[in-house]
Amino acid sequence: MQLKIEKIKTLKGEIEVPPDKSLSHRAVMLGALCKGKIKIKNYSQGEDCQNTLKIFKELGAKIDFENEKNFSLECKELSNPQKPLYVGNSGTTIRLLSGILVGQNFESILEGDESLSKRPMKRIIEPLKLMGANISSKNNDFKAPLIIKKSLLNGINYVSPIASAQVKSCLLFAGLFAKGKTTITEPFQSRDHSERMLKYLGANIEINGLEIGITPSELYPSDLIIPGDISSAAFFLVAAAIVPNAEITIKNVGINSTRTGIIDVMKKMGVNIQILNSRIICNEEIADIKVSYSENLKGITIQGNLIPRLIDELPVITILASQAVGKTIVKDAWDLRNKESDRIKAVCCEFSKLGMCIQEKDDGFEIEGKTKLKGDKIIETYNDHRLAMSAYIAGLICEKPLIINDFQWVNTSFPEFVQTIEKLKEE
Ligand code: S3P
Repeated sequence: MQLKIEKIKTLKGEIEVPPDKSLSHRAVMLGALCKGKIKIKNYSQGEDCQNTLKIFKELGAKIDFENEKNFSLECKELSNPQKPLYVGNSGTTIRLLSGILVGQNFESILEGDESLSKRPMKRIIEPLKLMGANISSKNNDFKAPLIIKKSLLNGINYVSPIASAQVKSCLLFAGLFAKGKTTITEPFQSRDHSERMLKYLGANIEINGLEIGITPSELYPSDLIIPGDISSAAFFLVAAAIVPNAEITIKNVGINSTRTGIIDVMKKMGVNIQILNSRIICNEEIADIKVSYSENLKGITIQGNLIPRLIDELPVITILASQAVGKTIVKDAWDLRNKESDRIKAVCCEFSKLGMCIQEKDDGFEIEGKTKLKGDKIIETYNDHRLAMSAYIAGLICEKPLIINDFQWVNTSFPEFVQTIEKLKEE
């Protein structure tokens, strides 16, 4: 689907963004492991999370819908799937689910779409094999499809070379089925939703700085309410900062400190941003975020332990950086090449078409601002929802209209993206 975006006068109003994707996946996965029926409220309607939900139905979970976002789920035991499990575009589904499936008494095959099938799985295959798992890649290339056979797992002490919540969560979930204790240490803190949810559901989990230990545990159901996704909010936070006279409040957003790198960066760059009404729900912090047009932005350096705290927001941060005076340097972000697309290459290639001064580096990019973005170009989306939405935000300030190809990728995480923007135009 092709979309034309035109420059807008301003954006004003109050919105909500879709339920957090990371929390939605984990709610169904851990909910299915609970002893008894769990209620999940405000589940993501994005394709990634819908694929997770479908897979758990195929694995024997009974789901009782109140409506599409709210349901109860019960799974007495996971059962042998009748066919390969399809994860679509979702790296979180395949990596976290592998951790659960290696501990089951049956064989399973996990496959995904073209983009997913190019993404590295060695990062989970290697440590899972150290635990004794029988997991392999069908084509012996450490990529999906993955084949998992039954095995007995032992706890290990794993020092992960990368700060990845997907790797960490995969091993924590496998640790629920292993003999003894599984310990994972990561180089920097990645998002800690799995640890928080495991604790909330009663698991034996110990957190010691960057070292997390887990032993096999019973999980007990307790309602899970999913807050808005800060990674989806990010598009509107940036839009409000760069569109003249804009003022937007986003209600009920998850502000877990392992995800709020974007807020720290915006404050440092000079954005008018306020966190309001902060509170704790289901062991996660949530708040309303208010942002207004910020004329005097300045470039900064984004690196080191900040990277895992904003990894998914880096594409849209390039748009913000193009409107800041001076250089914004993003480094230590190699893993951005392993997401739904090679996001370093994709943003540099596509956004330079708009007149952005962006230079590709091995582990990130450098942007020189402030630049008037020109538009009048066709932007490709590389099977990547976050690239599509970042391009849309750029289009709001381009001098001439912009065309985005294959905008349907937005459905991966944010099917209601265009309606949400429209709402801010009307008010
Ligand atoms: C996610 C972790 C991140 C992130 C992804 C979702 C998760 O990946 O990019 O969109 O839910 O655990 P890594 O932890 O592998 O960096």
